[in-house]
Amino acid sequence: MQIIGASPRPGLGARDKMLHSEAMNDLAGKHILLGLTGGIACYKAAELCRGLIKAGATVQVVMTDAASQFITPVTMQALSNRPVYHSQWDAREPNNMAHINLGREADAILIAPCSADFMAKLLHGRADDLLSLTCLARPIESVPLLIAPAMNREMWAHPATQRNVAQLKADGAQVLDVGSGDQACGEVGDGRMLEPQELLEAVVALFQPKSLQGQRVLVTAGPTYEPIDPVRGITNLSSGKMGFAIARAALEAGAEVTLVAGPVSLGTPRGVRRIDVRSAREMQQAVQAAAEDTSVFIATAAVADWRPANPAEHKIKKDGSAQAPTLSFVENPDILAGVAQGERARSGALYCVGFAAESQDLLANAQAKLARKGVPLIVANLGPATFGQDDNALLLVDAKGVTELPRADKQTLARQLVAEIAHRLKS
Ligand code: CTP
Repeated sequence: MQIIGASPRPGLGARDKMLHSEAMNDLAGKHILLGLTGGIACYKAAELCRGLIKAGATVQVVMTDAASQFITPVTMQALSNRPVYHSQWDAREPNNMAHINLGREADAILIAPCSADFMAKLLHGRADDLLSLTCLARPIESVPLLIAPAMNREMWAHPATQRNVAQLKADGAQVLDVGSGDQACGEVGDGRMLEPQELLEAVVALFQPKSLQGQRVLVTAGPTYEPIDPVRGITNLSSGKMGFAIARAALEAGAEVTLVAGPVSLGTPRGVRRIDVRSAREMQQAVQAAAEDTSVFIATAAVADWRPANPAEHKIKKDGSAQAPTLSFVENPDILAGVAQGERARSGALYCVGFAAESQDLLANAQAKLARKGVPLIVANLGPATFGQDDNALLLVDAKGVTELPRADKQTLARQLVAEIAHRLKS
């Protein structure tokens, strides 16, 4: 247990470093056609292009004339290390059919930014420039089309745009959300293009196997915080990284994901429903409510086993006697065991996965916990070697035996764990 001076606030900030670094090689071997259309968000396409390449992809940039008003092809060529295409009459292609060749080479097409005008054009199947021509000519079954809209809030909210978004989705395109906030025009509202890191994550997700499609997954993550008085409390060193990585991996695998997070400083993976809590009892309440509608529960949180029995209403002051105050504790509810003993878990409607954070005898402790918690799968790890780290090693213990997931970054491990869980759900 760690006693700290004040309650850590749940993080609302940008992606932490771990999420940046683990993207390395997530797109190895993938070829992405990055299309730019006219919009001030073109400046973000430069960073997106770098991010895609850092993640292992090759990137072919195609720009409309309007996009070239906002960022130069020179910049995009330098970043992508390939000549930029912009004309359907490009004589560099031996067959003079850039619109066919570019679409056939690509594993996915991402248009970022996608203007309102370009969405309208795609919707009608118009093809009077290289990018729209390439989108229309792409093999629709094998080359997914991702659209990252970017525009003024009134343009975004206009019924014509919303109609176009709905129709583009119906036509098989993946239209990503827009961000909200300050706009280049000085107005504030919906319509900003997502940030490069969010777009990168959407592209990475596209290529992950959809092994949890149709599942509703509930994850707990991070430590809990138990107050001693209004300015002090008891917590532990869990950073929440593993739980957040699992939430993201489950989402990538096609699940609907709810994440109940203790006090941590991590950004929420886009698309995950997050509920912030502080104490074990708050976590239990949130979990019990969400579990009603869940098919897989993964308890990664490092829940405090005990809490101070009588938290003081006001700060405990030194009284000059040099005597430390005596704290008495009561046991917290066991959230996982409670869910695992519930009707839904016992009937097989809810599959529960527990974590075991140990400091020694990993296998023996995990086997004991498997029986004690009454869950079908325990994922064991060494607490001191994982808390706060970007990588980890896991031991999966179930009735059939032991599976080892060797040390790797937490996002990779999370994807492997999701695959293991999906496999067990099927069998
Ligand atoms: N857990 C829980 N509620 C608690 C304590 C633990 O839901 N009050 C869950 C954790 O999220 C984890 C699993 O139970 O999935 C095991 O947690 P761990 O701290 O390793 O074990 P404990 O049950 O606390 O047992 P011990 O401290 O004796 O190892």
